[in-house]
Amino acid sequence: MRFDVLTLFPGMFAGPLNESILKRAIQAGTINVVLHDIRAYATDRHRTTDDAPYGGGAGMVMKPEPLAACIRAVLSMAPETREPSQPPVILMTPDGEPFTQRIAAELATCARLVLVCGRYEGVDERVREALIDREISIGDYVLTGGELAAMVVIDAVARLVPGVIDAESIADESFSDGLLEYPQYTRPAVWEGRAVPPVLVSGHHGEVAQWRRRERLRRTLERRPDLLARAALTEADRAYLRTLGWNDPTVGEGAEHSAATKS
Ligand code: 6GU
Repeated sequence: MRFDVLTLFPGMFAGPLNESILKRAIQAGTINVVLHDIRAYATDRHRTTDDAPYGGGAGMVMKPEPLAACIRAVLSMAPETREPSQPPVILMTPDGEPFTQRIAAELATCARLVLVCGRYEGVDERVREALIDREISIGDYVLTGGELAAMVVIDAVARLVPGVIDAESIADESFSDGLLEYPQYTRPAVWEGRAVPPVLVSGHHGEVAQWRRRERLRRTLERRPDLLARAALTEADRAYLRTLGWNDPTVGEGAEHSAATKS
């Protein structure tokens, strides 16, 4: 899979791409990240990429010409990755669609993505209209630019590309089935007076599986009760959650009172 990243600060990407799993995936050729310096597409003497907003106000806005030239140049590259259609051009911006594991999985099916890092004050709206297919935000807070957000998207998408990590790690992780993860322990069996839950050293695989499932349910109810409404729950899951005080929205009246409002 190929990621083209358009940025005014290509140097910001060196760290994350040169460590650990992403480094290995790039070395193996499983993923390819190509950085494009938007400033290289500015044509004036000072290589200007931003300007004051029409109508006044604080901050600077990314000028249309260099950014549009950069996007068009990138789309004309690597024709083998453009069949049968152009890759999606995605703008990283705090007013975009909230990024989720579902979107990561959707993007991981693309052979190529073009990620445009906006500066936080914004990009000229006409470039968005003309050349941007999709806009993504990584959460309800403001970053100085889209670069860190693009790295988050690359990381979350790349690990779903076949061959980047082992398939097992993806299958039973948080969010894939809408529940948080169970707690993990490793040796020593007792650390600073704290013992590992006995069931985990019992050797009873069935009991371990049930304990883990229940821990996932308990944690999700405590920390993210909003996730339970969309989680894939069995009747046994629902029965266990009810023993923890969960108000099962599919049972009887008062269904509008969620666990979130009770706790
Ligand atoms: Cl994608 N960009 C910026 N500048 N801030 C953000 C963001 C993106 N997502 C959350 N905050």
